[in-house]
Amino acid sequence: MPTTLTVLVENTVPGKADGLIGEHGFSLFLERPNRRILFDTGAGTALLHNAPRLGKDLKTADAIVLSHGHKDHTGGLAAALGAIGKRLPVYGHPGIFADRFGKRANGQMQYAGLPFKREALEGMGAAFDLSPAFREIAPGVRLTGEVPRKNAYETGDSHLFVPRGDTMERDPFQDDLSMVVEDTEGLTLILGCCHSGLVNTLDHVRDRLPGKPIHTVIGGTHLGFAPPEQLRQTIATLRDRQVRHLGLSHCTGLQAGAHLAAEFGDAVTFCNVGYSVTLD
Ligand SMILES: [Fe+2]
Ligand SMILES: [Fe+2]
Repeated sequence: MPTTLTVLVENTVPGKADGLIGEHGFSLFLERPNRRILFDTGAGTALLHNAPRLGKDLKTADAIVLSHGHKDHTGGLAAALGAIGKRLPVYGHPGIFADRFGKRANGQMQYAGLPFKREALEGMGAAFDLSPAFREIAPGVRLTGEVPRKNAYETGDSHLFVPRGDTMERDPFQDDLSMVVEDTEGLTLILGCCHSGLVNTLDHVRDRLPGKPIHTVIGGTHLGFAPPEQLRQTIATLRDRQVRHLGLSHCTGLQAGAHLAAEFGDAVTFCNVGYSVTLD
């Protein structure tokens, strides 16, 4: 079944893409003959601007997936629900509504969580279907659910926090999930920020779908915020798993992206606003 994936929101607009806008965030539209899924919604400004200019009608969406609660992935949710104009399932992890913060360079904590109340979103049509489980949400489209942390080197971003009583603790990102799309050749892994770690996520999918190779990875890897050892181990694992296409977006960062492009050559694509691929 042909599946088209199109990046609607990302940090960067390629030079040839007149009239589109970039913002710090991510959103991707999945289209199959009988199914359309909006994966993340960006930060709130770019989604409704870019979607029609890329020929995508959000009204046709059957479901929304939220990769995690960060506002650069959920900030466009109210606008998306308004544009879609009907009740539809919104899939995610039960932890998406947690308060969360990012520490700025000046030491101040800035709110970084989902910027809407659940009740308000439900009033706009969101039928939340929240679960930590690995599950299939449409034929051949699965969510990883909560990703087990199995290695010592994917330590994540040290600037992201959740409140615990009077103090702030490192955000454990239990709500971070990715989407897995199956085609005749194997699997495509679609990431929001991949705060769980790309190796942890690849391992989890391999454990849950043994014998089905991941040939493509698209989305934010968060490697730009990770320690060098994590980047080294990630490169070694991507080589070992023979991932053929690496579509880097969003929080991968320019330096980590350049490093991966140097390692993997033509296998790397920068998936900015308007990037589109069709899988068989
Ligand atoms: Fe992000
Ligand atoms: Fe994030």
